[in-house]
Amino acid sequence: MTVAREGSRHPTLRRVVGRQATYHAQVEQFEVVGGARLAGEAAVSGAKNSVLKVMAASLLATGTTRLSNVPDIGDVPIMAEVLHGLGARVEGHAPDITITVPGELGFEADYDHVRRIRGSVCVLGPLIARAGRARVALPGGDAIGSRALDLHVMGLERLGAVFDNTHGYLVAEAAQLSGAQIWLDFPSVGATENIMMAAVLAKGTTTIDNAAREPEIVDLCNMLVAMGAQIGGIGTSTLEIQGVDELRPVEHHVVGDRIVAGTWAFAATMTQGDIRVRGSSHEHLEIALDKLVQAGAEVTTYDDGFAVSCDMRPRAVDVVTLPYPGFPTDLQPMAIAMNSVADGVAFVTENIFEGRFMFIDELVRLAADVRTDGHHAIVRGRERLSGAPVRATDIRAGAALVLAGVVADGVTTIADAFHVDRGYQSFVETLTQLGASIRRVPDDTLL
Ligand code: UD1
Repeated sequence: MTVAREGSRHPTLRRVVGRQATYHAQVEQFEVVGGARLAGEAAVSGAKNSVLKVMAASLLATGTTRLSNVPDIGDVPIMAEVLHGLGARVEGHAPDITITVPGELGFEADYDHVRRIRGSVCVLGPLIARAGRARVALPGGDAIGSRALDLHVMGLERLGAVFDNTHGYLVAEAAQLSGAQIWLDFPSVGATENIMMAAVLAKGTTTIDNAAREPEIVDLCNMLVAMGAQIGGIGTSTLEIQGVDELRPVEHHVVGDRIVAGTWAFAATMTQGDIRVRGSSHEHLEIALDKLVQAGAEVTTYDDGFAVSCDMRPRAVDVVTLPYPGFPTDLQPMAIAMNSVADGVAFVTENIFEGRFMFIDELVRLAADVRTDGHHAIVRGRERLSGAPVRATDIRAGAALVLAGVVADGVTTIADAFHVDRGYQSFVETLTQLGASIRRVPDDTLL
């Protein structure tokens, strides 16, 4: 079954996935009336940070790849546009899409797309492996900090690609990729993925040491293995990849979104509520859930998720973000939001993205007592926050500000709602179901 949407520019895109209407309407904001205790069920769909990569991985095989558990979020149709620009046909509607890849691929991902979702940089590895060349726009600056590509480039160069940086594009060529030993200075998620997706079709063996091992990387590895790739050490920080001549298209079910699941876990704790989360493994959130237990919440685990309840004002908990299995940087804004209404003082350290404290100025507008010094934040908990107009600076900051609005007195408006729609499926609907008073309203300040 396909759904045609008015106004789409590409014929294939008219049949693709979700929220384009919302995405174009960038002048919406969320209006939250504070005071609700959130309780009920929250269903979590596939992970944003996985679906974009497995969509890119489909480029590695000629034929039709079928993806299920695809989230209905703004980033997916944009990634579909990137694939379309490379010659692939993307059809269907979340949660089920198909990607049909021709024998001959295009090789350019343009600036208009890459700047909208820098996750699209993950086509670099597949393109070099399949097309022997790639021309991918450099993403530029970001609201959460610098996102260098040096480790991606270094790894792909080790495999034999030759790079040039010209007119805002990263241009790569490789007649033949050959396996190599690669050490990453930092376990970068994106670099690990790009190198891995090139190495699966390289000649010989590649070892990636200090590789990232996020659940989304494991999901990508599982799909590549089903496609015929030979990968050892999955889920560890040393990946050993034996190159093969070709891969075949497969059916793949995208792993549940642990960050969305974690957002609901924080929501339950900070509103002294009770939320049953389905569709994401508690094992992917161990440190975050343990922090919530330290804060006073009760966590119950199930085969298909977990439940978090809290019947007291949460206690302040210190948080340090680190690569998986450490506390995820994507949940740091939720940790700060929770600590801003907790009993006590918390020390939060951000080690992954230096710009990830930018939203704190917005949180302070809600009367939160947060001070930063470099990559440390000191959060002094208050009984309640105070509603005010604020602005989402990125996906996770936007979600955290909405949760802060739920525990604030009066009305909070969160402008630039489109950021949240990039990563959260049915955000307003889920919050409403959980008991929050939230709606989308036009942002008149921009008219
Ligand atoms: C991915 C996620 C993002 C998450 C992050 C860390 C996607 C689409 N995004 O981003 O939500 O917050 O992982 O879990 O999957 N770095 C370099 N050189 C490089 C690459 C990275 O210095 O070549 C640095 C970055 O500037 C950053 C750190 O490494 O400070 C982490 O980046 P990385 O793990 O690559 O994150 P992303 O893949 O961009």
